[in-house]
Amino acid sequence: MMYTSAALLLAAASSVSAAAVSASLQYTATATSAVLAAQATAKSSSPVSFVKGKAFDRLAIIWLENTDFTLAAGDPNLAFLANKGIKLTNNFGVTHPSEPNYAAAIGGDYFGMNNDNLNYINSNISTVIDLLEGAGISWAEYQEDMPYAGYEGFAWLNEETQANDYVRKHNPAVLYDQNTKSLQRLEQMKNLTSFYEDLAANTLPQWMFITPNMTSDGHDSSVTVAGSWTRNFVEPLLDDERFMNNTLVLITFDENSSYSIQNQILGILLGDAVPSELVGTSDNNFYNHYSEISTVEANWGLPTLGRWDVGANVYQVVADKTGDSLRTYDAGNMAKHFYNLSYDGVFNSAPSFPVYPKPNLCLEHAGRKVAQSVQQKWYGNKNPSYYKDTIEVNDGLNPPAQYGFTN
Ligand SMILES: *[C@@H]1O[C@H](CO)[C@@H](O)[C@H](O)[C@H]1NC(C)=O
Ligand SMILES: *[C@@H]1O[C@H](CO)[C@@H](O)[C@H](O)[C@H]1NC(C)=O
Ligand SMILES: *[C@@H]1O[C@H](CO)[C@@H](O)[C@H](O)[C@H]1NC(C)=O
Ligand SMILES: *[C@@H]1O[C@H](CO)[C@@H](O)[C@H](O)[C@H]1NC(C)=O
Ligand SMILES: *[C@@H]1O[C@H](CO)[C@@H](O)[C@H](O)[C@H]1NC(C)=O
Ligand SMILES: *[C@@H]1O[C@H](CO)[C@@H](O)[C@H](O)[C@H]1NC(C)=O
Repeated sequence: MMYTSAALLLAAASSVSAAAVSASLQYTATATSAVLAAQATAKSSSPVSFVKGKAFDRLAIIWLENTDFTLAAGDPNLAFLANKGIKLTNNFGVTHPSEPNYAAAIGGDYFGMNNDNLNYINSNISTVIDLLEGAGISWAEYQEDMPYAGYEGFAWLNEETQANDYVRKHNPAVLYDQNTKSLQRLEQMKNLTSFYEDLAANTLPQWMFITPNMTSDGHDSSVTVAGSWTRNFVEPLLDDERFMNNTLVLITFDENSSYSIQNQILGILLGDAVPSELVGTSDNNFYNHYSEISTVEANWGLPTLGRWDVGANVYQVVADKTGDSLRTYDAGNMAKHFYNLSYDGVFNSAPSFPVYPKPNLCLEHAGRKVAQSVQQKWYGNKNPSYYKDTIEVNDGLNPPAQYGFTN
């Protein structure tokens, strides 16, 4: 059953910032009957492509929820998976709570978001999906228990138990109007039923983002449930060549659960794209969610978004093939950054400067320039820009100029 409580819908609606109302909503009916009717007729789409990458030909990103690094690394099922690949031991979320981390992982910033509201990021903001499509690389999302492909509602409950199932805040693509204004893109935001259909039909895409439901991902349960779900999902795929065909899998978390400490999260890279000599090793380089974008850019030689993606470290296993050099985070500067609070911006709950920062159109890193599609949208715009070619990105305690600390 859907959230039909008027109070809950009102609460969600009133939290939308005035600057952030979308013009591009199509599948938002929330009554159970309407959702079930839409479910019966919803279209989904599975474009395929074979664009050769330098280190991998397919990337599957799986996100779990709210677990501190040490707890996640100690889970026996996640430890089992880490042993089959590379453990990232210096990997970070970019803020709290969940939604801004999901937004950041494809858009290169969280635009001041410090909440899990019904936020609509305007269509001037491009994401990795634009970069992938620009190069003809197929993509999809698989959101467990999303009621149908392209559903834009705030949440969907388990119809029998009323437990949380699908939540919009854990679906990165749907947060961006640039994606939801396209019917084609909505059809590529699918559920896990579709994953198994695509696997069977050999129509899996080259980039995919997988979100288990609110129980499976540990949010409403524990890391034990999340670890067990993840092993059950991934282990059979390890020797399934419909999935594992020069494939890299990233298993990570949105954020660390202790807000008062640095936001370190477990990351695991595995799959047949990991060279055998690296299986069972650790990688101590600094990474954060922006590495999930820069790694894709480096692998397929894509241009950038001109945001925090530009300077983010490319995973070493990929950088070995792309020639990217990795940078270290200055320890003194790191000690001042906790990545546990958002700086100000459009989606802040109490914004004092609700302005979209302009991408830094001049940035060039490792030969990668800002995408033409991004240049065209922003050329001549006078908004401030705070993006630099660095891994040492701002946080709420160290905000960019003009986007100061607000709460
Ligand atoms: C997108 O950017 C253009 C140019 O800066 C601006 O005129 C327009 O208002 C922006 N669109 C939205 C929806 O904010
Ligand atoms: C997944 O989505 C399809 C339509 O896109 C729908 O038919 C199916 O019932 C959905 N599965 C679940 C578990 O909601
Ligand atoms: C979440 O997914 C699991 C299987 O992955 C399923 O057993 C469960 O019913 C789903 N929903 C809830 C609310 O647990
Ligand atoms: C594996 O990828 C290659 C292209 O790199 C493709 O030709 C082949 O059909 C794929 N194999 C499977 C089983 O999908
Ligand atoms: C972030 O961490 C710092 C250092 O522990 C702490 O002072 C601050 O209260 C934390 N912020 C939040 C929002 O938890
Ligand atoms: C959360 O991350 C910090 C490092 O940034 C780490 O010291 C801490 O142990 C983590 N929390 C737990 C309980 O693992």
